[in-house]
Amino acid sequence: MSTAPRACVIGWPVEHSRSPAIHGYWLRHYGIDGAYEKEAVRPEELEAFLTGLAARGYAGANVTLPHKEAALHIARSADAAARAIGAANTLWLDDEGILHAGNTDAYGFMTNLDTEAPRWREGCDVAMVLGAGGAARAILHGLIGAGVPQILVSNRTAAKAEDLARRFGPSVEAIGWEDKDSALSACGLLVNTTSLGMTGQPPLDIAVAALPAPAVVTDIVYVPLETPLLATARARGLATVDGLGMLLHQAVPGFERWFGVRPEVTPDLRAHVVATLGAR
Ligand code: ATR
Repeated sequence: MSTAPRACVIGWPVEHSRSPAIHGYWLRHYGIDGAYEKEAVRPEELEAFLTGLAARGYAGANVTLPHKEAALHIARSADAAARAIGAANTLWLDDEGILHAGNTDAYGFMTNLDTEAPRWREGCDVAMVLGAGGAARAILHGLIGAGVPQILVSNRTAAKAEDLARRFGPSVEAIGWEDKDSALSACGLLVNTTSLGMTGQPPLDIAVAALPAPAVVTDIVYVPLETPLLATARARGLATVDGLGMLLHQAVPGFERWFGVRPEVTPDLRAHVVATLGAR
């Protein structure tokens, strides 16, 4: 039997995942004799699948929807980010075969922001995060870790934003979905984590013109790469950061754990993944 390291992405469905394109590129680029596969696993089969991960020959896995919360609970231990976010996206087995859970989404978001808009933190006393799902939790964890003093969270369903404010503490404040425009003038960073602006969804309706001139606007949607929100912000001369970089950077720590090489996010990797987006 081959001893080449193997990893996979586990989802239901899993066909849409871009992770195989990212990890496959790195395996080829670094000349590693390993494999990265897609595993379609039903929610009711997740626990059995993860219990048998080593027997299936895997060193670890990425987890995507709808398994991120369940995977955290099934793993024997979890890193601080996964616990704070309440979800796991990266799993690995240690030498004793014990399953560990981590979350690299906050790392991916912050590394992308730091790389693409290195001056974002200057004058960013207030940030606004739109949406209150798993991605919003990861981004709140990242922004709090970066020391942003005040973060406003706004969500169509207000109760979910209020839950996040309670969960993440005094630097996070929930504001009404109808109040977001009037709060923008104080914000140095605007982050969209809702699905608005994604191909097939309505655009996000927000008064971008109310943002101050040095503000940075970022979207976690990456299909299309330039969402209507980013196009409007760019037309106004604001710095914009698209969502693909978060996806690329969140993959780095998992690849390093499973395959032993810390991979680089390069323009060539990005072009390779962009080429797969058209073929959804
Ligand atoms: P993820 O885990 O990726 O963040 P999610 O949990 O499905 O995904 O969250 C999707 C987000 O998009 C939610 O904040 C959702 O708002 P609700 O909590 O009110 O459902 C938001 N969203 C989706 N469609 C929306 C719409 N038409 N208008 C406003 N917000 C929308």
